[in-house]
Amino acid sequence: MSASTATPVTRLADYRAPEFLIEKTHLTFELHEGYTDVSSRLTIVRNPKNTKTNDLALHGEQLELHSLAIDERSLDSGDYQLTPQNLTIYNVPERFVLHCSVRIYPEKNTALEGLYCSSGMYCTQCEAEGFRKITYYLDRPDVMSEFETVIIAREGAFSTMLSNGNCLSDTVHDGKRVVHWHDPFKKPSYLFALVADNLACLEDHFTTQSGRDVLLQIYTEAKDREKCHFAMQSLKRAMRWDEETYGREYDLDRFMIVAVDDFNMGAMENKGLNIFNTSCVLAHPASTTDAAFQRVEGVIAHEYFHNWSGNRVTCRDWFQLSLKEGLTVYRDSEFSADMNSRAVKRIEDVNLLRSVQFVEDAGPMAHPVRPDSYMEISNFYTVTIYEKGAEVVRMLANILGPKLYRLATDLYFSRFDGQAVTCDDFVQCMEEISGRDLSQFRLWYSQAGTPELHISDHYDADRQQYSLTLRQHVPATPGQTEKKLMHIPVKMALYGNQGTLNLVIDGQNKGTEIVLDICQEQQTIVFEQVVEQPVPSLLRSFSAPVRVFYDYQLDQLQKLILLDSDGFCRWDAMQSLMRIVLSKAIDGKGYQAEQTVLIKVLRQLLADYAAMDAALLAYMLDLPNEPYLASLYEKANPVTISRVRTQLQHELATQLQTELLNCYQSLQSSAIGLSAQAMAARSLRNRTLAYLLQIDDARYRGLAQQQFSQAENMTDQFAALRALVHAEHAHTEAQTALQSFYQQWQHESLVVNMWFQVQASRPWGDVLQEVRRLLQHEAFDARNPNKLRAVIAAFANQNFTRFHDSSGNAYQFLAEQIAGIDQRNPQIASRLLTPLTHWHRFVDKHACLMRKALESLSQHELSKDVYEVVSKSLNKAH
Ligand code: BES
Ligand code: ZN
Repeated sequence: MSASTATPVTRLADYRAPEFLIEKTHLTFELHEGYTDVSSRLTIVRNPKNTKTNDLALHGEQLELHSLAIDERSLDSGDYQLTPQNLTIYNVPERFVLHCSVRIYPEKNTALEGLYCSSGMYCTQCEAEGFRKITYYLDRPDVMSEFETVIIAREGAFSTMLSNGNCLSDTVHDGKRVVHWHDPFKKPSYLFALVADNLACLEDHFTTQSGRDVLLQIYTEAKDREKCHFAMQSLKRAMRWDEETYGREYDLDRFMIVAVDDFNMGAMENKGLNIFNTSCVLAHPASTTDAAFQRVEGVIAHEYFHNWSGNRVTCRDWFQLSLKEGLTVYRDSEFSADMNSRAVKRIEDVNLLRSVQFVEDAGPMAHPVRPDSYMEISNFYTVTIYEKGAEVVRMLANILGPKLYRLATDLYFSRFDGQAVTCDDFVQCMEEISGRDLSQFRLWYSQAGTPELHISDHYDADRQQYSLTLRQHVPATPGQTEKKLMHIPVKMALYGNQGTLNLVIDGQNKGTEIVLDICQEQQTIVFEQVVEQPVPSLLRSFSAPVRVFYDYQLDQLQKLILLDSDGFCRWDAMQSLMRIVLSKAIDGKGYQAEQTVLIKVLRQLLADYAAMDAALLAYMLDLPNEPYLASLYEKANPVTISRVRTQLQHELATQLQTELLNCYQSLQSSAIGLSAQAMAARSLRNRTLAYLLQIDDARYRGLAQQQFSQAENMTDQFAALRALVHAEHAHTEAQTALQSFYQQWQHESLVVNMWFQVQASRPWGDVLQEVRRLLQHEAFDARNPNKLRAVIAAFANQNFTRFHDSSGNAYQFLAEQIAGIDQRNPQIASRLLTPLTHWHRFVDKHACLMRKALESLSQHELSKDVYEVVSKSLNKAH
């Protein structure tokens, strides 16, 4: 099933420092129609810390070698060896200049890694190991070099010719334009970038805290220039925030962002020249939803923050990926929390963690935040590295507290500036500054799996004592059967009838909120002077990425939903209440009493919606999603889960009709503009609309139609479209709306993607047939990753109900599609595969059909990327 040869595994334990270093890298790109010639001049020295061999082994793939010389002396075939992955030069001197020229074919590059073309634009994507598709090099992050880049093209071919750093010169000779760039900061090859095209540019300036002026530029196609203002404002907010929060100032005189249509990921932090998927930078109220606006702000901040957490201080090897990604996700999520609603940001992050990361962590692809081995590093840009990695940094920040955490990051950035380091180096700084022993905490980096906390309590009224007992358990994961005990910080409070209680332990008053450091298998904490039976508010603000098991009574949950001062906990208590109703129904048990309580408390919240944060209430109305519900079962039946969830949605809509309609109508006027308040109002209002459309009533369909045609922003227009398309009895109205939406937006590629996505995620009918039809649509383009995500990933990841249709046809369809996509773009193919890797979580019937699809895929010639995921997910014993 692999590309014939056995796929090698790279192991952390085999890490060796590089034997050679590259002091200077001088690159010349001659862009021609159909091919590009790349010549390099590398100043190479032996690494004084590690000299064993006289042979220099460079990385290089899919390169056509044209010439090779050391210190001006041409090499002949006896001086070196070429394999599909390496160029090894025998017996090189201590210090020398290597000249090399290769030819590459960007126009034919469909993998979108290395130098490629995207609708006429030449651009690069080098992380993690893409630079080796540009020239022979030591393509590893611990080899940092000073880069100079010369770009040559026919005069008039491109108005925009960019690379990292500062532009030294821009001249024309003999009908050729020659642009010369220099990046004064040493960097690994994965941060290299080049762009050539005819682009418009939005410019602005930023004055740093030390008074330097920085030129800010966002490059796009001319038609999109006006959609860059929001990204520009976001960038300035991010720059200011990083100065204020981390004391980090931007270092170059110029910061550039380029928007590109065809991009495998969201965006990339190349030094001084970030490259963005258009979906993560373009934004305009008429064509962009509020959620997409917030995504743009978050991604702009994320890539900007990498300038320190990733570029100035980078990773020693790719096993340390979370060093930059986990830290940067934590940084961007705190930024977003500061810009918008903190509670809502926390809810979004925890939702993702629970419904995606916990699932990964419980399956055949489970791996630690710092993995031990990989076949293809591209497969390790996972929710575990990113989201769990960010939670680990968050725990460290909370353990140290704001003052010490800031001192520790200051130490980290100054001590390791210009170096390639490890996760351990980061923790070491936290340890030194706090004086705490974090050796047990370090297990968060090496141990996979989601820890479980089983909590029980006892109230002794006579003694006025309340005791909590917490027992931890870390489930086994592939390759890690024996788990060690972890250090789990559990933030908590106790609620009495009048609100929070003072927490008295061993005669000491600890205030109303404390963090318990759970480090042993079982710990009991006794609270004294507790005059009434309290309600525990546990894992406040989700203080650790664990699953909590505590048997809440209905009235306890009700109390937390209405009273808890931690917005996240209110939402979480609501999720628990909803989960109780849903799991009783799924298990075929009676759930009337529970449902009655749920409806009562929802009614209370809706009736008094103005009393709370509308954005928070909007989230509180959402039922737990299907993947999360499935994850609660050893073997889940996806059909039952979907049916029960849909039924409850319908029941809630019916019972709460009056309150929902009232809320919908009263919020109309407050939902105008782009303020956080207006966005919150829209999100609540559109939630209520979606609920109302569950009811088969022409009045509600009329409301949605009216909102659809009168909307002044994309959030409202799209929410109405979605409500119509996803409501089973609104078929006729939905068809009309879909047609007019396409008519209106067919020339806005990103909006067309939403049009694809809303159809692919429709939870009823023969969606597979629709999806096949969409793949033939004039606007579909199988080479564009955003289009693949809008149709295929939307169907497989956002349409639990139809994807898990009991025929198994959707599984087979996905496998067929992946086999085709893998020929062109292995990274995208491998990512699309994720839903099938969850087969072991489902009842046998579905599990077998999912396995069958994986097996049929394994009959094809596969890329390393897809091979690794298919083989690992099939090998899981169960
Ligand atoms: N460095 C990554 C981009 C990347 C990912 C390059 C995988 C190569 C392989 C970038 O910083 C990143 O993490 N981007 C995220 C968005 C971010 C907001 C989490 C992405 O592209 O999804
Ligand atoms: Zn990143």
